[in-house]
Amino acid sequence: AVRLRVREALGAREPADAVRVQGWVRSVRSQKEVLFLHINDGSSLESLQVVADPSLEKRDLTFGSAVEVQGKLVKSPHRMQNMELQAETIRIVGPCDIWSFPLKMKERHPLEYVRQFPHLRCRSNTLGALLRIRSEATAGIHSFFQDNGYVHIHTPIITSNDCEGAGELFQIETSSEAKESAGKTNFFNVPAFLTVSGQLHLEVMAGAFTRVFTFGPTFRAENSQSRRHLAEFYMVEAELSFTESLQDIMQVMEHLFKTVTSTVLSKCPHDVELFHKYIAPAQKSDITHKLFSSSCRISYSEAVEILKQAPQTFTFKPEWGCDLQTEHEKYLVKHCGEVPVFVVNYPYDLKPFYMRDNEDGPQHTVAAVDLLVPGVGELCGGSLREERLPFLESRLQRLGLTDAYQWYLDLRKFGSVPHGGFGMGFERYLQYILGVDNIKDVIPFPRFSHSCLL
Ligand code: 4AD
Ligand code: MG
Repeated sequence: AVRLRVREALGAREPADAVRVQGWVRSVRSQKEVLFLHINDGSSLESLQVVADPSLEKRDLTFGSAVEVQGKLVKSPHRMQNMELQAETIRIVGPCDIWSFPLKMKERHPLEYVRQFPHLRCRSNTLGALLRIRSEATAGIHSFFQDNGYVHIHTPIITSNDCEGAGELFQIETSSEAKESAGKTNFFNVPAFLTVSGQLHLEVMAGAFTRVFTFGPTFRAENSQSRRHLAEFYMVEAELSFTESLQDIMQVMEHLFKTVTSTVLSKCPHDVELFHKYIAPAQKSDITHKLFSSSCRISYSEAVEILKQAPQTFTFKPEWGCDLQTEHEKYLVKHCGEVPVFVVNYPYDLKPFYMRDNEDGPQHTVAAVDLLVPGVGELCGGSLREERLPFLESRLQRLGLTDAYQWYLDLRKFGSVPHGGFGMGFERYLQYILGVDNIKDVIPFPRFSHSCLL
């Protein structure tokens, strides 16, 4: 018998005589004349209907059990489905105790419920759909960059640099170092951390390949229980050489977003539909916005003016020089008509050392850009980088970082070019396109995703 995945069986053009399908039982319905099963193997949202003689029913053939069914693939008489499997044999590979199994047949379990069972929730429709979408989006991101001439770089996860300088580092030590209370030694001779961004390493590579990207795990010790912060998340980062305007960076953000979202929509339409139908029904009509049919561009200074004139009062009073809070981001997006909003040119003192000085006044800014989107807030952050040696030298000097960043200064001594790039939070991207409220529901394993300090 030919082994078929459920997806292949459902999509088959022709009937086939001897096929074998393996998967988990999603429903059992026993009638006098006939036994109906639905089998799912994760290859699609839809399950394969199995039709069998009632004599094939066994006590262990329950919801959740693992089975192997052999038989004939035939055209289904049902309008809703193309093919079904007429079983000749049903083998129970692994039984499932339905009384203690937390998922129940034909129930639409809420995300909050299945979150309690991180090891079993991938067998629910919603998480199944999410994980397939996540997988397609990952492939789509890689294809986007490869198709556009970017070289993929594996930037290190263990590093000694603190790219963002925001004090959100996880420091690493060996287990024996952790036991020694006094006289700490460092395995690497210097303190080492889990990366907060691959940007600085990408800048090195942009000095040889002009266009590079990385897409890997990123870590931030943010003491935050918010619905959009994780301790471990995936970031997509791109760096482009010979780039002199923020406009170029924004264009890549937008192009990336559109291309990957169209790929996801065409590769897994049913999975996406599930979210738009049950998780965030309001989102569906929004999908055109999500494809950037329109977006808005304002400067940070304009944003602060808009906030100051807002008829509502904020918990954090909007003030030039202060960071935009979630409530501010929400208001700005609403003000612009619930479309993606690019905010450019942030205060010099608010942003990391690597951002390019706009040399303006009296309000001193850098060439930074954040992309804010409805429902999520900041999706992307990027900037032009300071490529001019004297500017970078004096900024690092003032921060007392000159020694640590000699190598970074070298990049400005040996063939420096105007360049820039950005990072996009992958989980926030998924939250946005699917309308998922809690970021814990778009990652495969939420165990160490959040701080417990609050
Ligand atoms: O704005 P961020 O901090 O930018 C950087 O790290 C730059 N070095 C990127 C670059 O230019 N190469 O982070 C980029 C994005 C944010 O816009 C946000 O979407 C996401 O990463 N992000 C988080 N996502 C989930 N949980 C967190 N704790 C996140 N922190 C940032
Ligand atoms: Mg940011």
